[in-house]
Amino acid sequence: MEYVSWSPLFSVKNPHIDQQHKKLFQIVNEFHRAYKAKENKDYIFSILNKLIQYTEEHFRDEERVLKASGCTEEFFNNHVKEHEKLIEEIFQLNMDLQAGEKKTLNELERFFDKWLINHVLEEDKRYLDFVK
Ligand SMILES: [Fe+2]
Ligand SMILES: [Fe+2]
Repeated sequence: MEYVSWSPLFSVKNPHIDQQHKKLFQIVNEFHRAYKAKENKDYIFSILNKLIQYTEEHFRDEERVLKASGCTEEFFNNHVKEHEKLIEEIFQLNMDLQAGEKKTLNELERFFDKWLINHVLEEDKRYLDFVK
């Protein structure tokens, strides 16, 4: 069983952004699978790095779409702040794991529940009204 599966529930009704979210889900699943299977460290960190890079790319893109959507400045600024927080959190996770901190699968799942799923469901879906 995959950790997260895409469902229409996650759609922000923008095919380009949905596609990117699907890819994020896919990389998180890949990371989860490798971590669970206790694959070799280099491999696990290469996936985590891929996730970080893709996340930065996605946030840049999403912010561009959001900016062009005519949303309020306050909404835009808050969303950008959220993204900055998420980037810090994933950097921190990377540092903790690199430093040899042990995280249970459960802890990782709770991290990504908040980091990925909540952000898409709670924050990204809020721009449904602006982005078409
Ligand atoms: Fe977002
Ligand atoms: Fe997003």
